[in-house]
Amino acid sequence: MTPKIGTLYGIGVGPGDPDLITLKAVRVLQRVPHIFASCSTKNSYSLALNIVRSHLNGAGIEHLPFPMTRDPQVLQEAWEKNAGRVLEVLASGTDAAFVTLGDPLTYSTFGYLLKTLKRLNPEVSVVTIPGITSYSAAAARTHIPLTEGEESFVLISGAQGAARLREVVDRSDNIVMLKTYRHFEEIYRALEELDLLDRATCISRCGLDGETVVENLRDFKGQPVPYLSMIIIKKKGKGY
Ligand SMILES: C[S@@+](CC[C@H](N)C(=O)[O-])C[C@H]1O[C@@H](n2cnc3c(N)ncnc32)[C@H](O)[C@@H]1O
Repeated sequence: MTPKIGTLYGIGVGPGDPDLITLKAVRVLQRVPHIFASCSTKNSYSLALNIVRSHLNGAGIEHLPFPMTRDPQVLQEAWEKNAGRVLEVLASGTDAAFVTLGDPLTYSTFGYLLKTLKRLNPEVSVVTIPGITSYSAAAARTHIPLTEGEESFVLISGAQGAARLREVVDRSDNIVMLKTYRHFEEIYRALEELDLLDRATCISRCGLDGETVVENLRDFKGQPVPYLSMIIIKKKGKGY
């Protein structure tokens, strides 16, 4: 008899509020014996794990460390090591979950894990459970429609600064920029230059302690924003 191989469930835990998680995700989290959560190499903190903690039923927790670097070789090695560990657990016949903030296939570590797992073992069994994205939650929190009628909507990253914003600004009606933290000042200046400051809203820590909604970006006056911050830009105006 071929030994049973476990399934990995990639679970989107939503943006912060523990109630913003699917029933399917909760059922799987309460059933699997092993839960993986990514963390940095410096400490074992995982926001995704904190979000689901109240839903857990005694599963074993294992942190998978990922270095905070852009060095592709270092990252590749970390992915291979972590994917190897996941495959080891699945090979013992155990089902496991990997928890991730928001949606697992939207700017998430899970996308890299998935690719590496499939490369190392094309037969690996993976089920992805979608999650509410941070920007869906922010739109709900602020009552800002992300897109209406024939409008377009573009999701971009601010991790490298304002370059992506400049690239898409002429072609999009609505823009959501995640990962704004590190280069907020540069992004602010670009919005000012593009005459979009009045059309932007910054939402930080949506659904978490310390949540803020800043409707007038001029209020920042050079202050830093929290790591979990995004900007919603309505090119045609906020409509109120
Ligand atoms: C690595 S991405 C994760 C995106 C996530 N997978 C999703 O579906 O929204 C991290 C970025 O998401 C945004 N983010 C995630 N959770 C957030 C929250 N609760 N409030 C505001 N922004 C959040 C921030 O822009 C942060 O820099």
